[in-house]
Amino acid sequence: MSGNKQWVRITPVQNIPLREGRSVSVGGREIAIFNLGNQFLAIGGRCPHKGGPLAEGIVTGATVVCPLHAWKINLETGCAAKADVNPACVATYQTRVESGIVLIELPEPSGAEQGNSFLCGEQNWPASSDSPSNSPA
Ligand code: FES
Repeated sequence: MSGNKQWVRITPVQNIPLREGRSVSVGGREIAIFNLGNQFLAIGGRCPHKGGPLAEGIVTGATVVCPLHAWKINLETGCAAKADVNPACVATYQTRVESGIVLIELPEPSGAEQGNSFLCGEQNWPASSDSPSNSPA
């Protein structure tokens, strides 16, 4: 099954309140998962504009408003509403719920570690995206 996608267990559904988002770090990716009531949607966690934390945005319909400069990101396409002018999208991920657990479909890692999914608390943001731990310089 290498080269395929895999379903990764993320968190119990109750950890993502209705019409809110939560950030998760899984397989080296930062992903924002949103509870729309009838479904969960998952997209890349950082705004395509300047990297705002999309999981902290306001959810309206199937859109999240970036907390930094209010770009509206469609949770189904991952693209900003302004995409017709200046295409700007984040990745989207399939989700499903199984036995009360939200799962996200991810590409299988290419040699990288995986399986260490966890839900980040609001206070648990990485201090910086250019962490020294994996910087060769
Ligand atoms: S960083 Fe999201 S709108 Fe600017």
